[in-house]
Amino acid sequence: MADDYPFDNASAPASDRMSALEASYDRTTFEHLGKLGVGAGWSCWEIGAGGGSVARWLAGQAGPDGHVLATDLDTRLLADLPANAEAVRHDVRAEPVPDRKFDLIHARLVLIHFPERDELVAKLAGALAPGGWLVLEEIEPRGQTVLATPDEASATVFRSVQGRILDLLERAGSDVEWAGRLPEVLAGAGLREVGSARVTTRWPGGGPEIRLLAANSVELAEKLAADGVPPADIEQFRRVLADPRFTVSSYPLVSGWGRR
Ligand SMILES: C[S@@+](CC[C@H](N)C(=O)[O-])C[C@H]1O[C@@H](n2cnc3c(N)ncnc32)[C@H](O)[C@@H]1O
Repeated sequence: MADDYPFDNASAPASDRMSALEASYDRTTFEHLGKLGVGAGWSCWEIGAGGGSVARWLAGQAGPDGHVLATDLDTRLLADLPANAEAVRHDVRAEPVPDRKFDLIHARLVLIHFPERDELVAKLAGALAPGGWLVLEEIEPRGQTVLATPDEASATVFRSVQGRILDLLERAGSDVEWAGRLPEVLAGAGLREVGSARVTTRWPGGGPEIRLLAANSVELAEKLAADGVPPADIEQFRRVLADPRFTVSSYPLVSGWGRR
């Protein structure tokens, strides 16, 4: 079942991918979680914790009386968490939720990849303490726009290769339109005080955020080649992403929250 997930934390580009996600989205994530009041003494569960930046931030907010459980299918990038946080290997799809209740459960860019995502939201809502928040953040990958380009050929190769990457992710089970439905899904799981926000930023060529797209193209290179994407196009795509004259809007990030 978990085989649908198309990326691997053991791959060479994985830490690049995590740093790019942190550069792109941490600021927005921390703003939303801060507004919901995450603070001293909270018990938090960070699902699909990846490189651990959100788990570390939560641990700082929760302080010595709080606790952060950071789970992932593969915890190798979760080294050096603070004393009030623990990294645990856990498959959120196949395994039951932990035997405790949480003030906050957060997952960013995790559930979008799983066909049974709506059922998982209901499962996670059941692990909340009364008054606890479930916060889910997902991207809308088809919502990117080319904002600046040195020439039309660069924009064309960007759109073409990026489109093939998204086709591949959809075939692997990702729902690239799920983010927009987060408020309905959270309400459908019986949560109250449901809200959402959608944030789009700029990803200039050569910057830390756009490296996400380059890392994905490295990690998915074999699959793209098997789909008939010419290697020369993939190389040109990476050159475009490294060019400061090129800028694309970020994948929009939808943050949705609801309270038990
Ligand atoms: C796209 S990364 C996002 C990482 C992090 N949440 C972030 O936004 O920076 C998805 C993460 O989910 C993890 N993951 C994939 N399938 C999982 C599963 N079945 N259970 C738990 N984690 C899973 C991956 O190993 C990876 O670390």
